Amino acid sequence: MNENIEVLISESKIAERVKELGKQLSAEYAGKDPLFVCVLKGACIFYADLIRAMTCSVQFDFIQAASYGNGTSSSGEVRIVKDTQASVVGRHVVLVEDIVDSGRTLARLSRLLRERGALSVRVCALLDKPSRRVPGGVDAEYVGFSIEDLFVVGYGLDYAERHRELPYVGVLPAGEANE
Ligand code: IMP
Ligand code: MG
Repeated sequence: MNENIEVLISESKIAERVKELGKQLSAEYAGKDPLFVCVLKGACIFYADLIRAMTCSVQFDFIQAASYGNGTSSSGEVRIVKDTQASVVGRHVVLVEDIVDSGRTLARLSRLLRERGALSVRVCALLDKPSRRVPGGVDAEYVGFSIEDLFVVGYGLDYAERHRELPYVGVLPAGEANE
């Protein structure tokens, strides 16, 4: 139940940080006609807020990868469930992700887009759990908040497809993740 979820990052803190990221990305990508690729589903709320904080024009696209079942740890295998539509050849691409955990999903997606001819591929993630990175896992160039090794939900992030609608990032109480 939502009332048991402890707020880790409030709605206003997220809004403030997302505006800063939008400003920073706008300064770096102005005049480069970047392709901003939203990694579904978790990043969709972050993405919608981030691109509205941008002052340069950006082209949208979406990709969906699956590496998780309903558990709270990565299976290691990454599958493309929904692919991008735009050609990435010669484009500056920014992958917008909800959270970097092991870094495997982003390593796979970055490699794929580079292989397809992207000029550059960078990652912007709302959250980062640096202590969870595995060898070969990708780091994000732009990070909203670095957090401890906690399983978080809300603002797009789920546990077994639940809690995405929360306007803040919260921590699932111990026990709930095992139900
Ligand atoms: P990675 O491949 O291990 O980096 O996994 C990244 C993906 O795992 C993210 O895009 C999320 O979908 C999911 N994930 C990792 N940690 C969390 C968490 O704390 N809450 C919700 N989803 C998470
Ligand atoms: Mg995700």
